[in-house]
Amino acid sequence: MDILEAMQRRHSVRRYREDPIPADIKARLQQEIDACNREGGLHLQLVCDEPGAFTGAMARYGSFSGVQNYIAVAGKKSPDLSRRAGYYGERVVLLAQQLGLNTCWVALTFSRRRARFALDEGEKLVIVIALGYGASPGAPHRSKPMAQLVRCPAPMPDWFRRGAEYAMLAPTAMNQQRFLLDLTAVGTVRALALPGPYTRLDLGIVRYHFEQAAGPENFTWA
Ligand SMILES: Cc1cc2nc3c(=O)[nH]c(=O)nc-3n(C[C@H](O)[C@H](O)[C@H](O)COP(=O)(O)O)c2cc1C
Repeated sequence: MDILEAMQRRHSVRRYREDPIPADIKARLQQEIDACNREGGLHLQLVCDEPGAFTGAMARYGSFSGVQNYIAVAGKKSPDLSRRAGYYGERVVLLAQQLGLNTCWVALTFSRRRARFALDEGEKLVIVIALGYGASPGAPHRSKPMAQLVRCPAPMPDWFRRGAEYAMLAPTAMNQQRFLLDLTAVGTVRALALPGPYTRLDLGIVRYHFEQAAGPENFTWA
């Protein structure tokens, strides 16, 4: 499965089977997490066989069941922490999909108190990503039409259209899709987070999808 196929197949999954993640798959995920932490200046942590974070009222309210594993997404407080958390977290999410796992970004419907993670001086937990073998593969979300999500003079370049199509597949909090991709000059794209909860984190995810599909060689971010 290549990364574009992973983006097509990824859907939020909230109900998981009990099968543990095999050691070789865990090792591959850990390797990617280490690379993301290095490149993104983050503190992502893979937590396995730990059901505590997804027991309790919030997880039930969110219809989660059987979650035994998650990635705690943490990092040093900074203005662009959310965007980096989204960008590198989605890189791990899409690798997980390629490895046959399912995921769900979770900002609210888990128990922060029971979750296991470590924070160094000045760091905070941004979000977690539930991880495991889903009871089902999930289902595609409804998307706003592309015209509401992009600004682009005609004719729209093929690479921009491809990037936008895959950006529309990106997970966003409550499926809000409050972002705008704006082709401001030849080969220059501005990505905007509109007002709303978690829209800066959403934008990091959207940027990762757009880049992978549009081809980073075709444009630069404004
Ligand atoms: C930043 C962020 C926070 C989210 N928080 C939650 C959450 O607290 N509980 C939940 O059940 N889903 C949460 N989700 C999952 C979204 O509801 C889901 O991604 C969206 O509805 C789109 O569906 P899809 O992921 O299946 O494409 C979150 C997603 C993102 C990106």
